[in-house]
Amino acid sequence: MLPTKPTREFVTGLPKAELHLHIEGTLEPELKLKLAKKNNIDIGQSTIEDVKKSLEFNDLVSFLNVYYPAMEVLQDESDFYELAMAYLKKAHQNGIKHTEIFFDPQAHTARGISFETVIMGLSSAVQDARAFGVDASLIMCFLRDLTSESARQTLEEALPFADLINGVGLDSDEHHNPPMKFAQEFHTAASYGFNLTMHADVDQVHSIDHIREALEVIGVQRLDHGTNILEDPDLVDFVVQKNIGLTSCPLSNSLVTKNNGISDNKGKELIELLNKGVKMTVNSDDPAYFGGYVVDNFMELIDNNGLTSEQVVQLAKNSFEISWISDNQKELYLEQIEAYINDFIE
Ligand code: ADE
Ligand code: ZN
Repeated sequence: MLPTKPTREFVTGLPKAELHLHIEGTLEPELKLKLAKKNNIDIGQSTIEDVKKSLEFNDLVSFLNVYYPAMEVLQDESDFYELAMAYLKKAHQNGIKHTEIFFDPQAHTARGISFETVIMGLSSAVQDARAFGVDASLIMCFLRDLTSESARQTLEEALPFADLINGVGLDSDEHHNPPMKFAQEFHTAASYGFNLTMHADVDQVHSIDHIREALEVIGVQRLDHGTNILEDPDLVDFVVQKNIGLTSCPLSNSLVTKNNGISDNKGKELIELLNKGVKMTVNSDDPAYFGGYVVDNFMELIDNNGLTSEQVVQLAKNSFEISWISDNQKELYLEQIEAYINDFIE
């Protein structure tokens, strides 16, 4: 029998993929202080408490205002390696077998760090994580509050490292920055063979228009967040028919909706979409900022939304099904899930 109420142990042991994780959002206070010291950077914080006190936000923009300045401590290749390796070890502890990791090159190149420094540090960690059974790939995101010209230049800088990059995404402040602003750059990225995804953050102004552009004009394969899709039944049908997955992040949702007066993890919407046959998944977004890694995000839904063991298993299966790995790899991971639940059923 699967547990009536899924336990942390059950969720942790279940093989999973993580598909919505910003590597810069895994910068834990301890590592931030360590790198600030090593690189001689005055961040105006000297204790863990100081860093934690700076984590004050209640919507996407106030979060981003804390998030970008923190990246200043990342200076050389070894810093990016250490950041990614720390996350990949956490991923391993969370039962993640495969992870597709976002990174924001412009947040680093804009402050004088080369694209090569960033990608070489991250990809060395990706390579080394194979030794402890975590398979990973990298998704380069354009910052949507910068110009399309900046995105075009970034795409050009990425081309010599195309073998190390699995896809292209879009993140940062969505307000006044619709998908169409980057239609040309996404089209070019697709023509180079990159997979495509895009943030449709929760409860944004013009959410539905942005989602429609992302799906119908740009042709993304996944939507990051995207639960506002429920407002338009035609779009729900569209994602079901096209097998487009949504990457939800409950703890992140709770924090970026605080300014509405009601903190909302969007678990109700996630479960409703799951019941309608949408390939929903659970992810951690920026775990060092939002209070937890992937298992914590599952526990949030189990404790507050009554997520069942069967739904937990379905979400784990979805995470492999909508990932950008080969069909053979997908089959192997799905078999691992079956073997894991059979041990419980016997
Ligand atoms: N950058 C890091 N996390 C993000 C999020 N949840 N939405 C938009 N941009 C981000
Ligand atoms: Zn995100």
